[in-house]
Amino acid sequence: MSANIAELERRRAAAHMGGGEQRIAAQHAKGKLTARERLDVLLDEGSFEELDMYVEHNAVDFGMAGQTVPGDGVVTGSGTINGRLVYVYSQDFTVFGGSLSERHAQKICKIMDRAMKAGVPIIGINDSGGARIQEGVASLAGYTEVFQRNVLASGVVPQLSLIMGPCAGGAVYSPAMTDFIFMVKDSSYMFVTGPEVVKTVTNEEVTQEELGGAVVHTTKTSVADCAFENDIEALLAARDFISLLPSDNRSGVPELPTEDPWDRLEDSLDTLVPASANQPYDMHELVRKVLDEGEFFEIAPNHAANIICGFGRVEGRTVGVVANQPMVLAGVLDINASRKAARFVRFCDAFEIPIVTFVDVPGFLPGTAQEHGGIIKHGAKLLFAYAEATVPKITVITRKAYGGAYCVMASSHLRGDLNYAWPTAEIAVMGAKGAVEIIFRSEKDDPDKIAARTKEYEDRFANPFVAASKGFIDEVIYPHSTRRRIALGLRKLRNKQLENPWKKHDNLPL
Ligand code: HXC
Repeated sequence: MSANIAELERRRAAAHMGGGEQRIAAQHAKGKLTARERLDVLLDEGSFEELDMYVEHNAVDFGMAGQTVPGDGVVTGSGTINGRLVYVYSQDFTVFGGSLSERHAQKICKIMDRAMKAGVPIIGINDSGGARIQEGVASLAGYTEVFQRNVLASGVVPQLSLIMGPCAGGAVYSPAMTDFIFMVKDSSYMFVTGPEVVKTVTNEEVTQEELGGAVVHTTKTSVADCAFENDIEALLAARDFISLLPSDNRSGVPELPTEDPWDRLEDSLDTLVPASANQPYDMHELVRKVLDEGEFFEIAPNHAANIICGFGRVEGRTVGVVANQPMVLAGVLDINASRKAARFVRFCDAFEIPIVTFVDVPGFLPGTAQEHGGIIKHGAKLLFAYAEATVPKITVITRKAYGGAYCVMASSHLRGDLNYAWPTAEIAVMGAKGAVEIIFRSEKDDPDKIAARTKEYEDRFANPFVAASKGFIDEVIYPHSTRRRIALGLRKLRNKQLENPWKKHDNLPL
């Protein structure tokens, strides 16, 4: 071996050792993989091509002059996931706690710039003590350069953040501006100020997990979308997830071969909706029976579960699914559900992913908590998102579509392309009981009259045919044929062309 090659190997081996054996052992002892092990799981075998392995920090203060580690605490480069190119960075907690220096930030910016040029997703694996304390403002500048790129990349290439360790202080704002965040239970956390500062300022005693762990962020705050038991589970899920997404906003959805017949009939759907209007059923059953091989990648399953959002495929091509869930809060639209679905719809629209919407919604949730929490503005987000979306939109009303919620849930009036209803659909301003209480208030003390009026209202409106007679519903379909109808619809809409008026950007009700 020539001396040159030997030197190259020595340098590579030094970079691969990161912060050294002891720190790698400490990382493993916490149940965490190292930065490079994570990339091995995330990317196709042998596909990773590293950049900037020999980059070192340029700090001299606080004894840093003599302390350099090749790579400077972040492994960056490109690789493939199921054969499709992605750019990645993976912070190395064994090197200065994965903290972000000026050079560390430059490495991240480089792969972001390259991903933008190539039009491919950016995946960030975060495991960092935050700003490199010895570097001061240089580190803050580095973070801000990353933030700026997150914003420019938004809506151009998909951005996925995997939080696999600490992510605190201003550092949280880079993942927060990406499209999706996955976290690992018990070993990752995100907060703006940690438990010690919280104790000093508000006197609250709280653990890291309670303050900003995976469970908190995927149930309460909705900062993160999915929580996983360990690194490997999260990384494998990220592979499946990225495989569903287009590479960028112009490339169109990926297409995979499928054995699942496009015209598969599902007789069980004919009895999915129970006879009683107040009885729930699991909307997941419909979602899975429509999608190829019943596979559905759900986003934020544990937050605002009254609305289901996620990705699947029809005829091998990705679709975004939004569905009211009668099993949770009767499928009502509230603040959290509106925000969750609005963001999802906007993601689909930005990346040309067709949206399939299943509707069973009794309306917006009443109450002071909702009104004072700003349901008007939050509900408007979902309305706005559906209204501005130009991707193919197919809607199926299975049961209730009442009031404003009928309008919002991808109705034909919001440029829905195909609006179907099942025979069990009830499309009205409100449920019969509430309607009768208002329009026949004078008869309220006569239960027989009220019962007769309720029956009259139900007979008149608790069906899809009034809306169909006005052309608001294109067709009343057999539930068992739903997949077939959606597949045919998506074929017809494949070359859909629709543009919104020119504008710098809209003014979404934030
Ligand atoms: C430099 C750091 C560091 C940092 C950790 N290390 N954080 N070095 N800058 N920010 C180093 C430690 O010195 C240690 O080095 C090694 O990483 C591992 O850290 P430990 O403390 O031993 O690990 P652990 O006990 O697991 O604790 C992890 C931790 C803690 C909770 C993240 O290290 C910590 O609190 N770090 C400081 C966090 C912080 O305040 N960061 C700045 C936030 S403000 P050795 O050599 O011993 O292995 C911020 C602003 C961003 O980020 C603003 C953007 C606009």
